[in-house]
Amino acid sequence: MNTEIIKISAADGAEKYEKAVELLKNDNIVGMPTETVYGLAGNALSELSVKRIFEAKGRPQDNPLIVHISEFSEIYDLVSSVPEVAKKLAAEFWPGPLTMILPKSEKVPFCVTAGLDSVAVRCPSHAVARNLIKFSGLPIAAPSANISGKPSPTKAEHVFSDLNGKIPLIIDGGESEEGVESTVISLCTATPKLLRPGNVTLTELERVCGKVLVDDAVLNPLKQGERVSSPGMKYKHYSPNATVTILKGEYTAFCSYVNKFKNENTYAMVFDGEGEGLNVKCFSYGKKDDYRSLSNKLFDVLRELDNIGAKQCFVRCPDETSDDLAVLNRLLRAAAFRVIDLNSPKTLLGLTGKTGAGKSTVSMYLKEKGAYVIDGDVVAREILIDNPPLLEKLTQSFGEDILENGVLNRKALAKKAFQSPEKTELLNSIMHPAINEKIQNEANNAFSTYSVVVVDAAAIIESGYAALCDKLIVVTAPEAIRKERIIKRDNISQKDAEIRINGQKTDNFYLSRADYVVKNYEPHLLEDEIKPIIEGVFCCGN
Ligand code: TXA
Ligand code: MG
Repeated sequence: MNTEIIKISAADGAEKYEKAVELLKNDNIVGMPTETVYGLAGNALSELSVKRIFEAKGRPQDNPLIVHISEFSEIYDLVSSVPEVAKKLAAEFWPGPLTMILPKSEKVPFCVTAGLDSVAVRCPSHAVARNLIKFSGLPIAAPSANISGKPSPTKAEHVFSDLNGKIPLIIDGGESEEGVESTVISLCTATPKLLRPGNVTLTELERVCGKVLVDDAVLNPLKQGERVSSPGMKYKHYSPNATVTILKGEYTAFCSYVNKFKNENTYAMVFDGEGEGLNVKCFSYGKKDDYRSLSNKLFDVLRELDNIGAKQCFVRCPDETSDDLAVLNRLLRAAAFRVIDLNSPKTLLGLTGKTGAGKSTVSMYLKEKGAYVIDGDVVAREILIDNPPLLEKLTQSFGEDILENGVLNRKALAKKAFQSPEKTELLNSIMHPAINEKIQNEANNAFSTYSVVVVDAAAIIESGYAALCDKLIVVTAPEAIRKERIIKRDNISQKDAEIRINGQKTDNFYLSRADYVVKNYEPHLLEDEIKPIIEGVFCCGN
């Protein structure tokens, strides 16, 4: 299919719309400009159109669409009742960037609402969108016209880049003025609830309808298995291919952090007027204190990162105290909630636990949250490579026959060292200080770019390194589960697993030293178990 682009401006008459209207009437879908972002328009009352919308975007089936109308009066067809508050909101903000969720009428097919009893309705202010709705005589279902997961399109060319060949027509009505999607408010709850922030702000909404609740998902990542009020919040969103990280703090701190990555295909998103002192390429995404200007360029810049093939991008954090949540909400999602507070103190976390307790899962989780993780096992292995002074100490204590052609034979060393507790102690007294020193060097280096460093090491208490850590995390799991895990992981017999487990220190040895205890044996509870660490150590964005 060839995708045609037709330019239409506010002044153009009905004849310009003929092709688009014809397509819509025949269950086809069309790229449509709106003042927020471009929409992918289809007849909201046609199951075929709706199916085509979902297919073209690759949109998950359980994420409902917004139905667009050209006049307030058209809402009566779509919803089962119109409460006073909806009338007041419409009088104030329609046509414009506000979407209201109300109980749906029978006429609206469930494929539009993804099976929900409510429907989202919006009356856009963009003249071309309103004309298209009017001339077609149809309520228009239109999600943002991007491939699912990508930043929303604010220019016809963005739509073309995502949907070329998948839809017959895009109407180019110029750049979207607002730049972020509409504010979504649910009027189905006793107190209205903000589901998605947009350029109609919370304060503006409350001025019209009194108290408005803010859905948890607006500024927080979803917990596993959590129910969402707005299915759209569930999905990965606004994500360029680059890894996006939001940095909180002053501009000078931003520069010194980002400049460390200068040769790594790294970019920065800064406020207008900034850029001096930065050694990586930067994009300005608007004025620091002007949310309209930030929202306006945000998606364009995120898309540009893809065009240039950026690997990572650091973003100046917009003011978090403002009630203008739209930009921060979109950025947090683009960054998968990766936020680093440059003002926060550096935290060194020790992570330990008995064999099979599930330390690695926890360390992976902390890494996801932006921590730098040092794996004690890896350090212990690496330290024996090309390290003549250490090898000499070992041969002095354990004999020359632990070497094979000058290279350490690990098995031979293990055999000697684990002969008796005294020999094991001797090995540790040589190895631990060397390992600790290497870990400390790596941690120091990491702290120049990370605010949280995790040292994942089984013997961190015995080696004395735990004493250097700000906090110690101990991971636990019942013995039977640990046994099962190590049998599977290390492919060992039941008996060997028991020997290993019995050789370990007592529970109390670990627990009496723990600042945080993480029970890791019910995957769906792990997130809650880790929450106190995230809240206590990782300062924000969670
Ligand atoms: O500005 C906009 O709203 C743009 C333009 C094209 O109008 N449209 C847009 O649509 O952003 P979309 O599909 O990308 O986002 C619609 C959001 C989703 O998060 C969806 O889950 C939510 O609205 N939504 C739609 N119907 C809903 C309902 N009945 N209950 C709760 N959330 C709903
Ligand atoms: Mg969207």
